[in-house]
Amino acid sequence: MANILLTGASRGIGAATRSLLTTSGHTVIGQSTSGDDGLLATDFAEPRAADALWEAALAAANGRIDVLVNNAGVFEAVDIAGSQDDFAATWARSHAINLQSAADLCRHAVLHFRAHGGGRIINVASRAGHRGDSPAHWHYAAAKGGMLALTKTIARGYALENILAFAITPGFTMTGMAEEYLASRGGDKLLADIPLGRVADAEEVAETIRWLAQDAPASLTGATLDINGASYVR
Ligand SMILES: NC(=O)c1ccc[n+]([C@@H]2O[C@H](COP(=O)([O-])OP(=O)(O)OC[C@H]3O[C@@H](n4cnc5c(N)ncnc54)[C@H](OP(=O)(O)O)[C@@H]3O)[C@@H](O)[C@H]2O)c1
Repeated sequence: MANILLTGASRGIGAATRSLLTTSGHTVIGQSTSGDDGLLATDFAEPRAADALWEAALAAANGRIDVLVNNAGVFEAVDIAGSQDDFAATWARSHAINLQSAADLCRHAVLHFRAHGGGRIINVASRAGHRGDSPAHWHYAAAKGGMLALTKTIARGYALENILAFAITPGFTMTGMAEEYLASRGGDKLLADIPLGRVADAEEVAETIRWLAQDAPASLTGATLDINGASYVR
C-alpha cells in the first residue's frame, strides 16, 4: 500500500479521493488551507508554500512518499473590462495555486522518486485545459493547459527511472465549485451539452485517481484521461 500526498483533500473531488484511497488501504497525507480534520495546512497563494508542504508531508509519511496527487485548485472569475490590477492579481493567484504549486510539488516528488526507485504523479487538470473556458476564466484554462504540458514533460523525462505521470481532465463535476458554476450558467442549458445527460460526480473522478495511483500499467505514463460524459471528445 502506498503513501500518498493529496492536495485539496478537504472538499469536493479531493474529499472523495481521500475517502476512497483510505478505504483502499493507502496512507493519505492530505492538505487544505485550514488544516482541519487531520490535514496539513497550506495556502498555495503564499510564496514557497509547496516547499514547506512537501517537507511536512515527508515527515508525516516517515520519509517515503510513493504517489503525489495535485488536486487543489481555484476557479475565480475576473471581468476583462474591470481594472488591470484585478486582471493581473487574478492571473497571479490562479497561476500560484493552480499551476506553480503543482510544479513545485512535482519537482520535489521527482527528486524524491529518483532516490527511491520511482513513484507516480497524478495531476488534476480540467477539460478547460483542452477546450478553453468562459471569458472570465482565461487564467484557469491557461493554468490547466500548463498542467497538461507539465505532466507530459515529466512522463517523457523520467519514465526510465520508473517515475510515471498522468493527468486527468474532468468536465463539470458536482462539487461546491461546480454547483456555483452551473447555477451561474443556467444549469439545464449546460447539461444539454453533455451527451451523458449529467455532470460527473466526485466519486467517479476519485475512482479514476485511485486506479491511476494503484493499478494503471506503466505504459500509460504521459496519458491524459478525460472524465466529461463525452461533452468534449478529442
Ligand atoms: N468541480 C469541477 O467541475 C471541476 C472540473 C474540472 C476540474 N476540476 C479541478 O478539480 C480539482 C478539485 O476541484 P473541486 O471542484 O473538488 O474543488 P473544491 O471543492 O473547490 O475544493 C478545492 C480544494 O482546493 C483547496 N484549495 C483552495 N484554495 C487553496 C489554496 N489557496 N491553497 C491550497 N489549497 C487550496 C481547498 O481547500 P479549502 O477547503 O481549505 O479551501 C479544497 O480542498 C481542482 O483542481 C479543479 O480545478 C474541477
